[in-house]
Amino acid sequence: MAAPVRAVTRKPAALSWAEAAGLPLAGVAAYQALVGALDVRAGETVLVHAAAGGVGSLAVQLAVGLGARVIGTAGEQNHEFLRTLGAEPVGYRKGLPEAVAALAPQGVDVVLDAVGKRTMRTLGPLAPGGRLASVVDPAVRAAGAAMCSPGPMRPAWRRSPGWPGREG
Ligand SMILES: NC(=O)c1ccc[n+]([C@@H]2O[C@H](COP(=O)([O-])OP(=O)(O)OC[C@H]3O[C@@H](n4cnc5c(N)ncnc54)[C@H](OP(=O)(O)O)[C@@H]3O)[C@@H](O)[C@H]2O)c1
Repeated sequence: MAAPVRAVTRKPAALSWAEAAGLPLAGVAAYQALVGALDVRAGETVLVHAAAGGVGSLAVQLAVGLGARVIGTAGEQNHEFLRTLGAEPVGYRKGLPEAVAALAPQGVDVVLDAVGKRTMRTLGPLAPGGRLASVVDPAVRAAGAAMCSPGPMRPAWRRSPGWPGREG
């Protein structure tokens, strides 16, 4: 089998072949969203939805590595796990907008959605000028946001100062 050198990398010694095989789809989705679409910078505050999942947990680690402050939504059973990754956990079942606002009163700079369904409700905590991308919900395209999937990347949607939706 032949492949371009840039498409091949070493398997980390600590991972089994099965574990390593599972990394690229979720990892590339997280990387494309954070770096390709959202252009996350050091010092920014990033809200990752489904932060304990496959895509989300990799996104948290990438964002922390980029120097961002990371807030992640997860079930209570995963909050300690998120802390070990360097994120500040919030629950998603009740009071999500209030919990994020308590941590980031000025709003977050970036939202990465790995849940779908209620993606546009994630606009509540997004500061004016903030960016949003989803790896799940094609509906975000209607608002001009990035739907991250393998292939060419659209720039992330930017919240305009006049956006009315703070419904949470
Ligand atoms: N576009 C792409 O290239 C691409 C690539 C890979 C995956 N995806 C998509 O990304 C999504 C996530 O995939 P995954 O592999 O990360 O899934 P996963 O490992 O099964 O994780 C899903 C997570 O969703 C969380 N969750 C459920 N409802 C939630 C809510 N209302 N708010 C916040 N979090 C919630 C759960 O959190 P708790 O366990 O903490 O409750 C769970 O950890 C899927 O829809 C998948 O199809 C897209």
